[in-house]
Amino acid sequence: MNVQNVMVIGAGQMGSGIAQVCAMAGYQVKLHDIKQEFLDRGFGIIKKNLSRQVEKGRMTEEDMTATLNRITPSLDLQNASDIDLVIEAAIENMEIKTKLFAELDKIAPADAILATNTSSLPITEIAAATNRPEKVIGMHFMNPVPVMKLVEIIRGLATTDEVYAVIEDMTKKLSKVPVEVNDFPGFVSNRILMPMINEAIFTVYEGVATPEAIDEVMKLGMNHPMGPLTLADFIGLDTCLYIMETLHEGFGDDKYRPCPLLRKYVKAGWLGKKSGRGFYVYE
Ligand code: CAA
Repeated sequence: MNVQNVMVIGAGQMGSGIAQVCAMAGYQVKLHDIKQEFLDRGFGIIKKNLSRQVEKGRMTEEDMTATLNRITPSLDLQNASDIDLVIEAAIENMEIKTKLFAELDKIAPADAILATNTSSLPITEIAAATNRPEKVIGMHFMNPVPVMKLVEIIRGLATTDEVYAVIEDMTKKLSKVPVEVNDFPGFVSNRILMPMINEAIFTVYEGVATPEAIDEVMKLGMNHPMGPLTLADFIGLDTCLYIMETLHEGFGDDKYRPCPLLRKYVKAGWLGKKSGRGFYVYE
């Protein structure tokens, strides 16, 4: 199968980044969301990123215009009727995702692949909402999408080798590096990253050190580009909590218990950078 037409669902931070890298690689992209204001914000992020590439001399004005012209806004899911691939990057909620996939299954051509950018929800369960579980796959991009090289490709229980090969090939065409993983809670990335972030939060909670000190230890001592608490604020503390809960429920092991301080911050609306306050305060 030759993928040419892609629909990205969700014009948020992840969806707009995915639409951008697909359009840069020459794919025709429909960027879908439920409200015009979400689409406007997503297109704003893409334009800002591409303008920076032009300023830095990595892209010409003409290439930028051509890239933007490859992205069409969509407010109607029926626009998926002629696509080859959907990459869903909507909200992390199983009910919403299964409803969306059941609808897409009815609208999209029979041979279209339905991928999800979920960071921890089971691919197999999302696939079970469709009549094409063999064509459902996880395509997990990292934030910020235009910068990060990894795409974790997650096979659901029924995903075929052929579908895997199409997605692996496409990931390489996006100038990203595919890594194959199986469908277990948190996959590989978040199974390892989130317990580290949760442990950093326990370290604050137990008064071992300040957030600044913890981040400094991990940045200077382990060469991480960001300390774990800065990264948690960047990802969103609600997302971190959601992923920890998925790990805790999925494995039933106490080692994945979310730190009470993380729960408290989320309840307070301290969600990190996006809400203006998390472990740090943002202007
Ligand atoms: N969108 C697009 N480009 C961005 C960006 C964004 N949000 N943030 C930074 N960049 C670009 C900058 O424009 C800059 O590009 P140029 O080289 O063209 O100047 C480049 O990235 C470097 O940026 P900065 O110099 O401003 O800052 P930095 O060197 O500290 O890098 C960073 C920023 C790339 C975000 C780096 O701090 C980093 O790698 N942090 C860790 C990110 C990480 O771990 N991501 C994974 C999160 S987990 C996840 O995504 C999975 C999940 O399911 C939760």
